[in-house]
Parts: sequence; structure tokens; C-alpha cells
Amino acid sequence: MKKTVLSGIRSTGNLHLGNYLGALKNFTEMQYDYNCYFFIADYHSLTTHPDPKTLHLNVHNVLAEYLAAGIDPEVATIYVQSDLPQLPELYLLLNMHAYIGELERTASFKDKVRKHAENVNAGLLTYPVLMAADILIHRADYVPVGKDQDQHLEMTRKFARRFNNLYGVEFFPESQPFEEKKEMVKIPGLDGTGKMGKSEGNGIFLNDSDEAIRKKVMKAVTDSGPTVPDSPVSEGVQNIFTIMKYVSAPDTLAFFREQYANCSIRYGDLKKQLAEDIIQTIAPIRERINAIYHDEAYLARVTRQGAERAQASAEKTISAVRDIMGIRRFY
Ligand code: TYM
Repeated sequence: MKKTVLSGIRSTGNLHLGNYLGALKNFTEMQYDYNCYFFIADYHSLTTHPDPKTLHLNVHNVLAEYLAAGIDPEVATIYVQSDLPQLPELYLLLNMHAYIGELERTASFKDKVRKHAENVNAGLLTYPVLMAADILIHRADYVPVGKDQDQHLEMTRKFARRFNNLYGVEFFPESQPFEEKKEMVKIPGLDGTGKMGKSEGNGIFLNDSDEAIRKKVMKAVTDSGPTVPDSPVSEGVQNIFTIMKYVSAPDTLAFFREQYANCSIRYGDLKKQLAEDIIQTIAPIRERINAIYHDEAYLARVTRQGAERAQASAEKTISAVRDIMGIRRFY
């Protein structure tokens, strides 16, 4: 039987290169070998972006971008999180076995408390439980995610184990990051430090024009250049090399690394090359986004079909969970 894979993206804006390289590229190939679910996490976006005016628009963007990145809705199941009524039920049930202390200790929660002290809502606290419900509702074996989601995945395994132990069953799997990846990807920003993110203001987006990409890359933070052979690489320059590793040919990266090592590197050339290689990666996706975005009939058909398939899978899980937990009907 095919193993199940689940991948999710929050609908808080357009997809960026980090989302694409961390959670989509390469994984679009596996849709033929695995039972794949790709979904748009619109409930999760409400923890930080509760704006009815932009909510649907953001889902629309991510949907078109997901499809443009190469997901084939005839092969994989693509759906919107809020189209799955079984999900909030599993979330509620898992919440009964999630402890406040462990939720408060989650790095993403602590980070949000620091950054948005004025809106520390219960949805934020239980964010990892909803994410576990996303994964466990299809009893997913593998979850392609970037490095930043590692802890959430660990918590999902903990909740699954706890459920199995409490009820004496072998029901939920211990979902793993996607197996074929030796290391989880972390795409940095070009602002010298940290990861590329939607809220970090350092994103290169899948719908950016060639010109916008060139501008952003040319502004990337570097340093004054190496003066002695084999000097250590500063974070900004390392970040450029890291992105190159994913978008450029291996000998291009080797060429610039060699130039760095012998102090002949010119950062202007390095950036120009990086910009062109990012454009090569993004431009075909951008063209497909434009074609798909306005085809409302197609998007309606795809999401309806996805919702039906995802609901069928979710229904099996939730009825088994009800049974295991002793929730029975009189009628
Ligand atoms: P989100 O929406 O922030 O990001 C979606 C996916 O993109 C990856 N990613 C990155 N990978 C590498 N480098 C980066 N700079 C980078 N930025 C983002 C993320 O790791 C993620 O895989 N909580 C999740 C959404 C979610 C989910 C799920 C994911 C909800 N339920 C169930 C998987 C399974 C999130 O906020 O991802």
C-alpha cells in the first residue's frame, strides 16, 4: 500500500522561495509514488491574520501558487483546511490530552508572545495541536516541512504516542519528516540573518517580477570581501551560497566558492548570477500562476474534488477515534 504524505502551508500571503524550496520542490514528484495531501491552512492563519477582507484572497493566492508549483489535482488531493469538518473535532479531542505547560514551551509560541504581546490568544497556544490534527486526520506517514516546523512535528509524534498509550492502541503513526531528505531545508533571507519568511519582510515571492527579484538580490547583505585565502564566510555571504545550493548548478556554486577562497570574488557578479538562477526557478511558476489564478471554474472544481477526497479519509479516522475514546451514539 502507498504511504501517506501530508503537506500544509498557512494562507498568510503569497508563497516565497523558502516555502517552495523547503516544502514543495521535489515533493511534487512524489505525488505519483505516495498517497499525497496538500492543503491550505486557513484556520491557522486566523491566529495572526484574522481579517475577513483578506482571508479568502490569501487562500486563493496560495491555491493558485500551489497548483502552479506542480501539484496535479488529478493525482494528489489538494484542499482547504476549513473544508474539512472532521478536523475541528479531532483538534478538540486532541486538546484534551495536550498540556498547557508543553504548549507554553513551544518555540513558535514563545516567539509570538514576544512579538505580539497584545494578542496572545488560545488559538496560538494550541497551534501545534491543530497542526497535529491536520497530520493525524489522514494518519500521515511523512510530512515534508522546512526546518522551522521540526518542533511542531515532534509534538505531533508526542500527541500520537500519548493517544496510543492512553487507549492501548496502535492507531496513530509517528509521522516523520519526509524520508528521502537527509536534512531539513532552511532557506535564509537576503538581509544578512535569519530565515526567509512572509512576516520577516525579506521574501522573494513566487509572483515577483524578474525586475523585483534582481532588485532584492542586488540589495543582499554581504561584507567587505575576503582579504586572506580561506577566510571564514560571514553570515550574509553564506546565505547567498546557501540559496545558490538550491537554485544554481553545482559547478556555479563551486566556481564562486573557489573565487571566495582565493579572494578574487566580486559580490556584484555573485549576486547577478544568483538573481538569474532564482529567476530561472521562479519564472515558469509565475507564468502558471497567472494562467491558473483567474480560472475560477477550475479552482472550484479542484477544491470541491479535493474536499470530497479529504473528507472521505478524515471520516474514517474520526469515526475510529470516536470509537476508541468511547464516544457512541444512542441512535
Ligand atoms: P508556513 O506556512 O510558515 O510554511 C509552509 C512550509 O514552508 C516551509 N518554509 C521554509 N522552508 C525552508 N526555508 C524557509 N525559509 C521556509 N519558510 C517556510 C515551512 O517549513 C513549511 O513546511 N505550521 C505550518 C503550516 C501547517 C502545516 C500543517 C505544515 C499547518 N498544519 C501540517 C505541515 C503539516 C506553517 O506555518 O508553515
